[in-house]
Amino acid sequence: MSHPDYPHLFAPLSIGSFEVPNRVCHVPTDISSANSDGSVNQRVINYHEQIAKGGCGLIIVGASTPDRHTGRPTVTCISVDEDPHIPGLAELAEAMHRHGARCAVQIQHPGRQAAWPRKDLMSATDQMVHIPGSAGHEIVYAEQLAQGKAIRAMSVEEIYDLVEKFAEGAWRCQQAGFDCVELHGAHGYLIAQFMSPFVNKRNDRFGGSFMNRMHFPLEIIARIRHKCGPDFPIGIRYSGVEWVPGGRELDETVEAAILFEQQGVDFLDISAGIFEAPGAVMDPMYYQQGWNTYTSDEVKKNVAIPVITSHTLRDPEYCERILAEGKTDMVGLSRQMIADPYWANKAFERRPQEIRKCISCLVGCWQESLMIKRHMRCAINPAVGDERFLHLPPAAEAKNVAVVGGGPGGMEAARIATLRGHHVTLFEKTGELGGAILLCCPLSGKNKMRWYADWLRLQIAKLGVEVRMNATPGADELSQFDAVVVATGGRVARPDVPGADLPLVKTFEDVLRCRMESCEFHDPGKRPPADFGESVLIWGDHFGAADAAEKLAVDGHKVTIVTECADFATWMEPCHKDVMLKRFACSNGEGVQGRTCQQPVTVITNTTVVEIAADGQVTLMDNHFQKSTVTVTDVVLANVVPGANPAQELLAAGKPVTLIGDARTVRNLRAAVTEGANAGLTLDDGLQLNANRAIISNLPTEVAPNAE
Ligand SMILES: Cc1cc2nc3c(=O)[nH]c(=O)nc-3n(C[C@H](O)[C@H](O)[C@H](O)COP(=O)(O)O)c2cc1C
Repeated sequence: MSHPDYPHLFAPLSIGSFEVPNRVCHVPTDISSANSDGSVNQRVINYHEQIAKGGCGLIIVGASTPDRHTGRPTVTCISVDEDPHIPGLAELAEAMHRHGARCAVQIQHPGRQAAWPRKDLMSATDQMVHIPGSAGHEIVYAEQLAQGKAIRAMSVEEIYDLVEKFAEGAWRCQQAGFDCVELHGAHGYLIAQFMSPFVNKRNDRFGGSFMNRMHFPLEIIARIRHKCGPDFPIGIRYSGVEWVPGGRELDETVEAAILFEQQGVDFLDISAGIFEAPGAVMDPMYYQQGWNTYTSDEVKKNVAIPVITSHTLRDPEYCERILAEGKTDMVGLSRQMIADPYWANKAFERRPQEIRKCISCLVGCWQESLMIKRHMRCAINPAVGDERFLHLPPAAEAKNVAVVGGGPGGMEAARIATLRGHHVTLFEKTGELGGAILLCCPLSGKNKMRWYADWLRLQIAKLGVEVRMNATPGADELSQFDAVVVATGGRVARPDVPGADLPLVKTFEDVLRCRMESCEFHDPGKRPPADFGESVLIWGDHFGAADAAEKLAVDGHKVTIVTECADFATWMEPCHKDVMLKRFACSNGEGVQGRTCQQPVTVITNTTVVEIAADGQVTLMDNHFQKSTVTVTDVVLANVVPGANPAQELLAAGKPVTLIGDARTVRNLRAAVTEGANAGLTLDDGLQLNANRAIISNLPTEVAPNAE
């Protein structure tokens, strides 16, 4: 019987020799959580088992190396390069099969993009590469400047050796009970390096013409067939468009699809980009839902085998529509499954509003695992990589808890504490829950953050948390509670320079407050956003500075950012930064459809503001004490420092007070949410404060606090 709302999403599909129960596919995600030798562990099993429990039809386990000694895509990726890995892989397959999912392993050699080893990296061609958005970017030691790294062309012997290793890896997956394998030919990894006209400049039979560039994947496919037999399906993932000049375009993608089908490939997974254009690969917040699906649509018109599309798919309704329109056979979700592994079942149960939609921030997942080389986490789902949140222990004793501040950290603390049985009162000083997220509302793409605020608000309402709006409790009121969580966020730093209190000086909040009265995030209690003249100087190095610059420049203002740092936004996740800088230059991220800046944004580094005059003349001073002036219509302050702590006195008196998020140190959403979750979890074990009077935190991504 077909599903009343999503008949296409929940229809079965045949792939080669097996049937998938629905059209929901977890596209490969290297969660970088295996053991250091690449063997599967409980963390890897838990992650994938949750997705299977969540009703996903086909789960493709992320990039797994066929030769960990010459290339690991992440330092703790899965490895399929030795038989002793088979038992662990079998447990992984079993954990997914238990819940009715079908499963595959994606086999990938990263070549030039290896996170490990860092030197003597193989590729199709000799080259110097500089690809900062990728896991295998150049080595940047503290005392060295960023530089490109040398990669070398594989010899023909090495190519055949690796073909054999790919096939052996596939055989191990088959032995372990996986339903099929997928080859990773996308995103500039090794197979893509051979397939790409942009990278592959070889002049032997593995390079040059289209057929020669296809030689490497076709050899691998033939060898897997030989070892695994005709009934073991093989898929391949590759990018529909590489989004670099000279890279593969859609016409060659279709040609490749036809060839793969002729060579017996069972399914195609059409991705996007190569890491020279990281935006298209990792589509940060700027990208619209389904922006890449036109590529699978085109491929599907030319082949009969199943085709998967991916990239910023979040809404079941949208996924149902593209399936119904025949643009794809399966919808591929990666980050959405990180943020909410139960996506499919929530859609099936017709509770789409319950889905914690991924906001595409890339901070916990991409930045932390692939860039920082740790196990993968998620900014909005604390259960990723932290089993304490999978099965929340009930509170030993229900406490009366005050959470001060209704931003994401405060709401998450309230949510977890309430789920555990505490009675929580949530105080919010404005008339709206959401905190700093509410300032993302007017920004194209970044308004995805609203999804998370909406989800948290729904949880708070459903759990019956007592919310007191427009409330700023003092120490007396707070002392009535058993425990207090302070999540009051940051405040704009008011620097002590002449002219800082002139009317032309505003804050990034004055730029970003929601103007639309019809918007649910519009707080009637707050001032409307300010009006700005033609040229604005933004002083700061924080999300507020980046977002205010974007908003003003898109609206046509001339924007200059002044930062004391040697480079603007070093804290920003690199794929976002790549797109942001392109937009600052009035161009756009590859594949981004939103309006871009009308005038280029100028960034002045290593410089501070020393005086602001009433006529708009601003005196700057650089790190060599050289002064200069610019004349502007407005100055926007955009450095943030921790806000006031209403529970200071209680803290001094030794009462259990926990400071979280920007109220503690100004960082990012991931920090606020993780600390909120930790606070909610540790309220009753007496260990919530460590020796520094801070909660014990597992936070990896430290963003340096801004000095006042
Ligand atoms: C942490 C992380 C790891 C990823 N690992 C892989 C991988 O192993 N293989 C792959 O083909 N794509 C990988 N991707 C890309 C995703 O499969 C997907 O194409 C991309 O995130 C965009 O789709 P989404 O919006 O559903 O996340 C990874 C993405 C993230 C965020």
